[in-house]
Amino acid sequence: MTDPSGQIDHVLAESRTFPPPPEFTAKAVFSTMDQYEAAYRRAAEDRDGFWRDEATEHLHWFEPFQEVCRWQAPNAEWFVGGKTNASYNCLDRNIDAGRGDRTAIVWEGEPGDTRSLTYSELRTEVAKCAAALRELGVGVGDVVSVYMPMTPELAVTMLACARIGAIHSVIFAGFSAESIADRNNDAGAKVIVTADGLHRRGKVLPLKETVDEALAKSPTVQKCLVLRRVGQDGVSMQEGRDVWWHELVDKQSGDLPAVPLDSETTLFILYTSGSTGKPKGIRHTTAGYNLWAKRTFQWVFDHRDEDVYWCTADCGWITGHSYIVYGPLSAGATCLMYEGAPNHPAEDRFWELVEKYKVSVLYTAPTAIRAFIKWGDEHVEKHDLTSLRLLGSVGEGINPEAWMWYHRKIGNERCPIVDTWWQTETGGIMMSPLPGITATKPGSCTRPLPGVFPKIVDESGQPVEANHGGMLCIAEPWPGMLRGIWGDEERFIEQYWSKVPGMYLTGDNARQDEDGYYWIMGRIDDVINVSGHRLSTIEVESALVSHELVCEAAVVGRPDDLKGQAIAAFVTVRGGEPDEALRKELQQHVRNQIGALAQPDDLRFAAALPKTRSGKIMRRLLRDIAAGHEVVGDTSTLEDYSVLAKLRDED
Ligand code: WTA
Repeated sequence: MTDPSGQIDHVLAESRTFPPPPEFTAKAVFSTMDQYEAAYRRAAEDRDGFWRDEATEHLHWFEPFQEVCRWQAPNAEWFVGGKTNASYNCLDRNIDAGRGDRTAIVWEGEPGDTRSLTYSELRTEVAKCAAALRELGVGVGDVVSVYMPMTPELAVTMLACARIGAIHSVIFAGFSAESIADRNNDAGAKVIVTADGLHRRGKVLPLKETVDEALAKSPTVQKCLVLRRVGQDGVSMQEGRDVWWHELVDKQSGDLPAVPLDSETTLFILYTSGSTGKPKGIRHTTAGYNLWAKRTFQWVFDHRDEDVYWCTADCGWITGHSYIVYGPLSAGATCLMYEGAPNHPAEDRFWELVEKYKVSVLYTAPTAIRAFIKWGDEHVEKHDLTSLRLLGSVGEGINPEAWMWYHRKIGNERCPIVDTWWQTETGGIMMSPLPGITATKPGSCTRPLPGVFPKIVDESGQPVEANHGGMLCIAEPWPGMLRGIWGDEERFIEQYWSKVPGMYLTGDNARQDEDGYYWIMGRIDDVINVSGHRLSTIEVESALVSHELVCEAAVVGRPDDLKGQAIAAFVTVRGGEPDEALRKELQQHVRNQIGALAQPDDLRFAAALPKTRSGKIMRRLLRDIAAGHEVVGDTSTLEDYSVLAKLRDED
């Protein structure tokens, strides 16, 4: 078993357990193991009955559904024949229940400006934005690209699309013009919503400029709606195409009702990296996804009315979709939303926010936790964190050292930690402790939620024994599962459903211990996880070889203390000796092609890449070299031994 993160030996030796504090259990949503086991059993034995009850109770239905689950692997339809609306479930349903004056979103911008929106106010904003989108020609089934800073308007835009049956495709605001154009074109986006810029670490990034560059290559996009966020001068607005948010949205009346939509109406697509060079548009639909996001939020974050909940993710990723927007808002939660960096103006910004807003539930990523450890405990100690009662982790495995620091320094040994395993494709959390009942083990996502049936199998699809690693699959359909890859049915089947017939292949390796706890052990494919961001090594390679001087490139992940994995690239070039200037140019080239998050941390020039006799690049070797390990294992098929020596000499 390969371990790209280099953390497994650590994890295998981990045997500490942390039972939930009794005072936490007393008030928890799941407060006894029996309750969990009964729910788990019912979902297994009577899938339709279990989900019928859940959907009936927890979603609003304009028209009731006739059938719970129509399943013909790999195609699932949930709540067939019903009509609902995710924006209605997030807004109107709470308002109808007399909760319109509750705070939905408290927001703080990086420069320190603040806003707060009640559920009623948020509905008005959403309805206005929905009406504006309609005026721009957006209707049911049209795709709207969204490239925005973490402002309330980002959530507003997503919910506005949902309100009128349009499909949002949120593109993380760190992606390049090239990436935006690729996504616009793949999705056939009709409109894009953006802002003049965003604040990041005290600087302003000119988002509109990037969008202009992208739109020059996005023939399907007809209109561009622009939020004034940073108030920059000289933003170019193209006559007939570009329109300011404050001119169009603000003049709408704000009473546009939610459109009743079939359960299986596409709610959004979200691009994520797979094992090829081209990101895939993961497609989620309305009712099943909405129910999954809501219930998993309530179960895992043990939602209570008095909570102030903060998920530090960006809405550009699935975590923001499910656990900033659809899950918490459906549950009527009060959510903190923050625009900027964790270390601006200083390294205590997060803890200042926790203290200021009395955050009770915090959901963040291991890469952030490792950065805080590095920055020093004094930034934490300056602040009163006693409002916290529950901590969450997502995006990559949390190494036991980071887990223990989170537990001690942030949770003061009182707050359970929920290490949540899931993926863009799963729509919401699949495996996680239930904080009132699960004894946690640092580094394990513990057990599956009700309705999730994991199986670990070997290469031939056979179940492996306890404590043996294997490919993690999910055996049964669940409401939040992806419904496909946008415009690419073949790839959907090939990627997720062909290797192990009848089961969803997650792409992760996992092991189950003697207590039935799951431990995620990295990917089985060429996907790497850099600061919790999924990237395909092949995507970065394609970006590199698109430079005229590059002949060949091989990209691998190497362990990194902060990022989890860093990107190492080995490149062969044509025409003379490569130099430092070319190295910089190639790094910039990757930024331009994909975005800053894909820029290689190491870029080494090589005379040739090590290959097998059949011409395959020997990635395992390159991983060892990138990690600075002695090259071990079988190198007998290496075509040219001298290549290996040359690569090593570069160190
Ligand atoms: C990894 C993010 C270990 C995993 C929600 C998965 C994790 C990929 C965990 C999905 C975790 C996410 N422990 N690994 N708790 N959470 N991963 O689509 O490899 O951005 O397949 O979704 O991140 O990344 P994605």
